[in-house]
Amino acid sequence: MKKLVILSGAGISAESGISTFRDAGGLWDKYPVMQVASIEGYEADPELVINFYNERRKQLLDVKPNQGHVLCAELEKYFDVTVVTQNVDNLHERAGSHNIIHLHGELTKVCSSYNPNNPKYIKELKPEEFEVKMGDKAGDGSQLRPFIVWFGEDVPRIADAAYEAEKADIFVIIGTSMNVYPAAGLLNYVPYNAEVYLIDPKDVYIDTERKITHIKKGASEGMKELMRLIAEG
Ligand code: APR
Repeated sequence: MKKLVILSGAGISAESGISTFRDAGGLWDKYPVMQVASIEGYEADPELVINFYNERRKQLLDVKPNQGHVLCAELEKYFDVTVVTQNVDNLHERAGSHNIIHLHGELTKVCSSYNPNNPKYIKELKPEEFEVKMGDKAGDGSQLRPFIVWFGEDVPRIADAAYEAEKADIFVIIGTSMNVYPAAGLLNYVPYNAEVYLIDPKDVYIDTERKITHIKKGASEGMKELMRLIAEG
């Protein structure tokens, strides 16, 4: 089976009703990113940050995967698929994708504030636990914090993602402005003879000489067109 790697971003969840970050009216228009999505912001005001993620986590109860997520899962019938996502929502999982690498963490999980990547203290929250409070402790006695990779923190899964990208016969970039590294740098690991597709209703600046087929549509319509193009391939 050919290897197909998807790099997804907030745009794939837009049709599910989850705001992107950098579109007009996006999350970073409403919240100062360094206050709610950086390690300094968390250390300065943990309660504000914990509540910011409580709101985003609870939103998961009101949204569902869209056709874009569903078609990513359907590709597993025809390809060896790995989804590398920058998203922290669980919509790829709920759509049925199996091999998912979350580069920036997961909203449904919490971890230790001392050592966020210690697997001993990473915990999946049940929906009834979606509200984390100050004073809730991880197993090491530290404040329970969102299992999110904030600006200023390492991206531990980037090595796994690069390993997958190196094996790609087809690489699909969907719903990301390719602004944030190291995620945006994954394209550099993709073999030069691989086919690269971009699904995004807008133009996206990607610093590369290689040929990229831009399907200038939203995630759902774009994934349908992709399926037609690669089926013909
Ligand atoms: N379908 C597909 N793409 C869409 C849609 C849609 N319906 N709507 C918007 N987009 C595109 C936008 O044109 C844009 O290129 O999705 C992209 C969203 O870009 P960003 O808001 O920058 O989101 P993303 O690239 O995922 O951000 C990367 O930045 O703040 C950090 O950690 C955060 O993971 C996030 C990272």
